[in-house]
Amino acid sequence: MSIILDGKILAAQLKEDLSKEIASLKGQHHPTPRIMSIAFGQSAASQSYITSQQKTAQSVGIHYALQVLDEKLPQQEAINFIQKVNSSPDVHGIIVNKPIPASIDFYTLINAIAPGKDIEGMNLANLGALLMNKSHLWPCTPAAALALLKSCGLSLQGKHAVIIGRSEIVGKPMALLLLKEDMTVTLCHSKTVDLEDHLRGADVVVAALGKPLFVKGDWIKEGAVVIDVGINQHEGKIVGDVDFDSAKDKASYISPVPGGVGPVTAVILMKNALEAFKQSL
Ligand SMILES: NC(=O)c1ccc[n+]([C@@H]2O[C@H](COP(=O)([O-])OP(=O)(O)OC[C@H]3O[C@@H](n4cnc5c(N)ncnc54)[C@H](OP(=O)(O)O)[C@@H]3O)[C@@H](O)[C@H]2O)c1
Repeated sequence: MSIILDGKILAAQLKEDLSKEIASLKGQHHPTPRIMSIAFGQSAASQSYITSQQKTAQSVGIHYALQVLDEKLPQQEAINFIQKVNSSPDVHGIIVNKPIPASIDFYTLINAIAPGKDIEGMNLANLGALLMNKSHLWPCTPAAALALLKSCGLSLQGKHAVIIGRSEIVGKPMALLLLKEDMTVTLCHSKTVDLEDHLRGADVVVAALGKPLFVKGDWIKEGAVVIDVGINQHEGKIVGDVDFDSAKDKASYISPVPGGVGPVTAVILMKNALEAFKQSL
């Protein structure tokens, strides 16, 4: 039987640490960290994410402003807007919410953000810096998965991690973060042969493939740590990429969905905002 890695508890601890640090900076007469969140039109998909960002920012003492841009705004004008925010000393971090209009290329927009304000850690400069072990702003989801993994308190050095999924936003940066921890990393994807055999040798499994309940308990080594990044709609419920019910009998620690990586991700965004603010001082 495994120990559940409760993301809400870790998120609350991280928020408390952030609140204290921000209050202490204010006590030293520094201004309030300020972030700007950009959305295109009013979309239900982005609204719940925006509300959660807003609440998390407020709870730690970060000023949050939302700018809704016209869905029909040409790409160059959206870039011009971001460049204006880049040059504003009153904004320390920028978020671009999905969905973005089909007429705008997501990575072109993300790369228009000044690297020091890219608190989602997704532009080329920050991903390149991560590759060189020099980044201060890590992509939020893999950083949250790592924080949850580290909360087990186990030694990671030399252990074998198997990641399923090689996206730019989760799998690839996750591999770099685990390499930084001196783990031996196997990065699997849809063309991987004998995925189950890779998983059976893993001390740590990070599932980020976007397939509901895909990873079964009997693919998991007894005592492995399982971090489930997946968020999927399945039979009217939100579930992860791991079949939690069978995996919990094999894993030593396992993160649930919902309530695992998700709540931590929202706080890592604010941790990045504070980091960007401190770098700007
Ligand atoms: N918790 C959070 O805060 C958070 C944030 C972002 C995403 N997510 C969730 O994390 C999951 C992954 O997101 P993503 O954006 O990385 O997804 P993505 O861009 O769709 O990438 C999925 C990856 O999984 C691989 N894959 C798909 N089917 C596979 C299979 N049968 N066997 C092995 N590998 C397979 C794909 O391989 P190929 O490269 O070969 O196609 C791809 O690399 C989704 O459920 C998403 O909702 C959670």
